[in-house]
Amino acid sequence: MDERYHDFFGDFGGRYVAEVLRPALDELQSEWMKAMKCREFMTELKTLSNQFTGRPTPLMFAENATRVLGGAKVYIKLEGLSNTGAHKINNALGQALLARRMGKRRIIAETGAGQHGVAAASVCAMLGLECTVYMGEADIRRQRPNVFWMELYGATVIPVAGKGATLKEAVNEALRDWAGSFEDTHYLLGSALGPSPYPDMVREFQSVIGREVQREIERRNLDVEALVACVGGGSNAIGFFSPFLESESPRLIGVEAGGRGTGAGEHASRMGGEGRRGIVHGYKSLFLLDEDGQVRPTHSISAGLDYPGIGPQLAWLGIRGRVEFTKATDDEALDAVRFFAKNEGLLFALEPAHAGAAAMQIARAVSPKKCVIVNMSGRGEKDLFILARAFDGGKWKEFLHSEAQDVQ
Ligand SMILES: Cc1ncc(COP(=O)(O)O)c(C=O)c1O
Repeated sequence: MDERYHDFFGDFGGRYVAEVLRPALDELQSEWMKAMKCREFMTELKTLSNQFTGRPTPLMFAENATRVLGGAKVYIKLEGLSNTGAHKINNALGQALLARRMGKRRIIAETGAGQHGVAAASVCAMLGLECTVYMGEADIRRQRPNVFWMELYGATVIPVAGKGATLKEAVNEALRDWAGSFEDTHYLLGSALGPSPYPDMVREFQSVIGREVQREIERRNLDVEALVACVGGGSNAIGFFSPFLESESPRLIGVEAGGRGTGAGEHASRMGGEGRRGIVHGYKSLFLLDEDGQVRPTHSISAGLDYPGIGPQLAWLGIRGRVEFTKATDDEALDAVRFFAKNEGLLFALEPAHAGAAAMQIARAVSPKKCVIVNMSGRGEKDLFILARAFDGGKWKEFLHSEAQDVQ
């Protein structure tokens, strides 16, 4: 068995799916493993990662932020500079190339913040594959600009109905589609979760983030205290952390959505003590569940961090203590967006702004000889409507009114 393939992480992970999906997952596992050993596949992935995605992304020394915070040196991995604006494209490109190699002509995907949907739609346009994206109605409302981009790339966006429907409901619909279509369709899952082999496969396609950071740490001889990443399902965090999992340092810190309070439905912190063992979406992990074992509602200002479960490998690493978990609230994330915009000229997406908020606290408490590296998993243009409402109610409202009048 290949060392990249685990199936289970402790007792998390696995493949808890209806019988009808087993052949699709068996085929995917065996084809992925063959592809990872195929020189032509890996060369094409690398070439397109350079030319289409824009890799390697920079690791920037945030000199102003470091000075203002007065502690450890802050470095920022600029994944948001990738084509389509987030790390999601690393995985989308890898899986779409794999799908084409497997002879699948149609791609389906789920999306929350829309970044994975946009990445999938863009890659499919480039490779000439048909693309359908499932998206919850609540997320469509919050992340409307990304719906527009997906459609421009030629994808069909299918709204998943239901009051408050978000990523969880979108995954359900994608799995339902796949059960009846896998002969010619690949399900391009967007985070390090779901039935095996997805958690392993998504980690491997995202590990390019960590490998690039590791190279830069060595080249610049950095003394790293901590790597900090936000955690929705966990794909940017596990990709960033992956080359460092077997060593004892640096500290690896995952940041969950603290939302607007600690009550049920007010946050999406699964590792802060409320996550319970369960099986959802085909894998075993920690989920926010109610007394009857039903999935609880969640809240985050960022559409990419409000998933009720966490990828099985990160859950296991958290229980083992290799990855530490903390959380940032909606307001702390907004403060971090403003801080990095003003001090560094960088626009963090709301998801990595949670990591930015935690990195600010950690940096303040650590010696200036050390450094803290935060993964800016995406850039914030997609959040324009949310940010404008939070930061600039009056002028923005006036602008929207006049636009609406113009359109009419
Ligand atoms: C920019 C960005 N960062 C992070 C996430 C969270 O996903 P993950 O935990 O899989 O990295 C999302 C999800 O949509 C996202 O758009």
